[in-house]
Amino acid sequence: MSPELAQASQLLRDGRLVAFPTETVYGLGARADRDEAVAGIFAAKGRPSFDPLIVHVPDLEAAREWAVFDERALALAQACWPGPLTLILPRRPGVSDLVTSGLPSVGIRVPDHPLALALLRACALPVAAPSANPFGYVSPTVADHVRTGLGDRVDLILDGGPCRVGVESTIVSLVDGEARLLRPGGIPREVLERHLGQELSYSGHAPAVDHPSAPGMLESHYAPGRAVVECFGSKAGLEARARALDGNCAALGQDLSNVPAKARADLGRTDLEMATGLFRALRDLDRPDIATILALLPPPQGLGLAVRDRLIRAGGSRPVLP
Ligand code: TXA
Ligand code: MG
Repeated sequence: MSPELAQASQLLRDGRLVAFPTETVYGLGARADRDEAVAGIFAAKGRPSFDPLIVHVPDLEAAREWAVFDERALALAQACWPGPLTLILPRRPGVSDLVTSGLPSVGIRVPDHPLALALLRACALPVAAPSANPFGYVSPTVADHVRTGLGDRVDLILDGGPCRVGVESTIVSLVDGEARLLRPGGIPREVLERHLGQELSYSGHAPAVDHPSAPGMLESHYAPGRAVVECFGSKAGLEARARALDGNCAALGQDLSNVPAKARADLGRTDLEMATGLFRALRDLDRPDIATILALLPPPQGLGLAVRDRLIRAGGSRPVLP
């Protein structure tokens, strides 16, 4: 084990905060079984305490210590873990009530990243970790984003390079006999439905809520600092708006080289490229000279559903323009 990994593991055991890479985004970790440690996460992020956290474990066996798995949950876990899937399941005693915000359920996942898995095995604890950004800001996909956002509020940042997936995990709730998609994310809805042999119910993009029984929806702003994000369903609509603004805007999406704009972020061709580059693009376009970001939404298939969701939230959940 590298000295840095040993140090990170010891810090977690001591109840301190360690940021670590996952395949989705960087997480801000603390031991999930101790109130004071978990409270540190909320303080560092400025996150409201009624928004529950995801528990990270190294494998399914460890997950079963903290949550109750029925057949559907087992099927999904066996097919998708390690991977960008968080399951909301009935909780077992042991993790802090702060992690679950007092809910009878717990969110749990096995991340698909060698450094994250090594850390989870080394510390031998369940680790609560939200994305390692100040509350309401864009999630970090490289270690530098964590440094910029949280700085010395974190005791150690493990650097694993850029995150492969780039959007957070897909969250599926299997409590109450229902199978609900709470947050589209790094594993496509279609893949999960195939493994489950049933459709997931999805209420689409819900507006910001203040009710802890409908979480996953609270961070309505994956927003860059200054600019307003406007979301478009078509390139023609986006282009017309850019002309109306005399090019005094930024354009984000696919194939927008003809759009008049001060800056452009091309998200690439495949839905994975779009997901991977999305948060970095939002940060890059967060410049003092840019007041409006025009975003072209991808189709809602595959990882496109998650990209759409994050862009719409970055725009404050306003209606999509044609
Ligand atoms: O990819 C990810 O999921 C990343 C990495 C670090 O693992 N984590 C992440 O955490 O995105 P966070 O805190 O930013 O988002 C977790 C979401 C929250 O919106 C929360 O409401 C929901 O998971 N959640 C957690 N526990 C829940 C529960 N018991 N019931 C419903 N939603 C829950
Ligand atoms: Mg987050």
